[in-house]
Amino acid sequence: MLTLAIESSCDETAAAVVENGRRVLSNVIATQVPIHQRYGGVVPEIASRAHLEQIVPVVEQALGDAGVTLDRIDSLAVTRGPGLIGCLLVGVEFAKSLAATRGLPLHAVQHVAGHALSVYIGTETDAWGDPVSEPARHEPYVAMAVSGGHSSLLLVDQDWSIRILGETLDDAVGEAYDKIAKAAGLGYPGGPLVDKLAAEGNPEAYDFPRPMVGKSGCDFSFSGLKTAFAREIERLGGRETLGDRPEVVRDLCASFQAAAVDVLVAKAKLALRENGLRRLAVVGGVACNKGLRAALAKRLPKTQVALPHPAYCTDNAAMIGGAAGLLPFAGGSSLALNATAQLDITAPASAWQH
Ligand code: KG4
Ligand code: ZN
Repeated sequence: MLTLAIESSCDETAAAVVENGRRVLSNVIATQVPIHQRYGGVVPEIASRAHLEQIVPVVEQALGDAGVTLDRIDSLAVTRGPGLIGCLLVGVEFAKSLAATRGLPLHAVQHVAGHALSVYIGTETDAWGDPVSEPARHEPYVAMAVSGGHSSLLLVDQDWSIRILGETLDDAVGEAYDKIAKAAGLGYPGGPLVDKLAAEGNPEAYDFPRPMVGKSGCDFSFSGLKTAFAREIERLGGRETLGDRPEVVRDLCASFQAAAVDVLVAKAKLALRENGLRRLAVVGGVACNKGLRAALAKRLPKTQVALPHPAYCTDNAAMIGGAAGLLPFAGGSSLALNATAQLDITAPASAWQH
């Protein structure tokens, strides 16, 4: 069973071919990062246009890399939401056209559910270390979905249903990374840059807050941490003065990262403990973070932690093809499908089709 999957919810145009919801035969990502870099963030209108330009070559390359033609494809999958509406529309309308002309079933996937299930895809083994040639070993787990658009703790249950344990009350953690990088005069996207500089700085140089830690519940809040960082820059004399003080920037990044990682690890631990679970999936762009990966290994020694390959952490279509192959779609597919900026992750997959 081969699925051709398409993802266009934000600033990556992506297509992938996935076998049985598990084995990734190709995973093509055309990133728009260089286009949006000069604006310091994603410009929705420009992003939609770039998707329109990229969608055909990206899909062609995904088929080519997988060594198949459209004749071999059994089903299509597409991200329906949440995301930027103009961007989602490009992928959804393209997938619908393909489904209609080829007579193929089309499955709509909720983007964050795609991230949550990204631990089950791979070329040989999945992020749990299990062979992708076998059926997915499925036990309930906590998925920490952390990216530029979302920071959620989810419980993925035995029957693949998803429950929200906690969410951010304000900024997503990746968004906070991007904003503090901007405040410090670093580039875009901020996460990878801050992560790199943090490795060379002193994490104890500045005492940044750990919002929500020690409080009950699994919600996050990153706005206060972001503001504390901006205030510290003001106190140090403003962004302009940082240019010739690289050691200060490194220490600021290291101290910010220490605080953000402390919050993520503390809330992941709480979610696992409160639900009596021993499996944690860390997914989404921020799951690439080296400081977070090291802290999880050190501070959750008894937990089985699944960290997808970085190519499956940032937005990609392989995770959409994976989720489409694994989730039950009672009621089949629908060509009446429309893109939507909001889509309930807790609804059954069959409800995402309309
Ligand atoms: O999942 P993703 O590609 O897109 C969204 O759905 O948002 O995640 C992108 C986000 C950006 O905010 C980026 O700064 C962040 O993930 N990110 C990182 C790292 N790599 C990407 N944040 C922290 N450390 C990283 N190494
Ligand atoms: Zn995402």
